Amino acid sequence: MSGLTNKTALVTGGTSGIGKAAARDLIANGATVIITGRYADKVAATVQELGEKAHGIVSDAGNMQDLLLLGKKVNGITPHIDVLFVNAGFGKYAPIESIDETHFDEQFNVLVKGTLFTVQQLLPLMKAGSSIILNTSIVTEVGLQNSAVYSAAKAAVQSFVKSFAAELGPRNIRVNAVSPGPISTNYFDRSNLTAEQVQGMTDWVLPQVSLARFGQPAEVAKAVTFLASDNASFMHGTEMYVDGGFPRIK
Ligand SMILES: NC(=O)c1ccc[n+]([C@@H]2O[C@H](COP(=O)([O-])OP(=O)(O)OC[C@H]3O[C@@H](n4cnc5c(N)ncnc54)[C@H](OP(=O)(O)O)[C@@H]3O)[C@@H](O)[C@H]2O)c1
Repeated sequence: MSGLTNKTALVTGGTSGIGKAAARDLIANGATVIITGRYADKVAATVQELGEKAHGIVSDAGNMQDLLLLGKKVNGITPHIDVLFVNAGFGKYAPIESIDETHFDEQFNVLVKGTLFTVQQLLPLMKAGSSIILNTSIVTEVGLQNSAVYSAAKAAVQSFVKSFAAELGPRNIRVNAVSPGPISTNYFDRSNLTAEQVQGMTDWVLPQVSLARFGQPAEVAKAVTFLASDNASFMHGTEMYVDGGFPRIK
């Protein structure tokens, strides 16, 4: 147990992959967890699967109206949260020539605007001692073909880690990130890539992972639980790489 008993966590994008695994692990470590997702049926099914310590809110991280209502909706369930894992997102890939405004706006709305305003709207519910965890990606560390928009959006999230940490440290609210490498999730479903291109990306990425495999969502979840807990009480403004040893440009 990581001492999360009597703690409440909000996990955005908790209906699948890393978010769902994080919700499960936080609950296993004693927390009550609220998840978000875009679809009522998926949120309800996930809450049922996660059990009685789970709650759900339908909220689109790429929709400003939903973002502005999120604090109020969370407040309807709990007066405060101790942990905020800002995870909702997806990666869309295209060569530079094919990127259009919709592609750009979709990615920046969910990943950049979504992250900023999720944190802003939830801050009034977070007391001293709380922990915010953002989800970046190892794509910020490498030049990756067809990934200009996604990588730039995640680089903005990486920048938020430092800015938010500088601003919230004096309030004793810790801000960190997990930076996952390739993880087996539904991530490629909205990637704009054909099955052949996904295979090509897999063939490119695998030889670069020192542990020579994709990670599991539960392996990222363990890092989230650690950063959420008092075990990480002096970790602030940093990223934890959960990437099997992906080479990084430093
Ligand atoms: N898998 C990887 O290799 C990898 C690597 C580095 C970083 N990441 C990051 O990890 C995060 C989670 O991705 P995943 O790999 O776990 O993929 P996933 O299995 O597709 O899960 C994505 C989650 O985000 C939610 N979501 C997507 N758009 C949303 C929106 N507009 N509003 C609210 N929820 C939204 C989805 O919920 P609904 O569809 O139900 O709304 C789902 O719960 C993303 O930020 C991704 O960029 C993934």
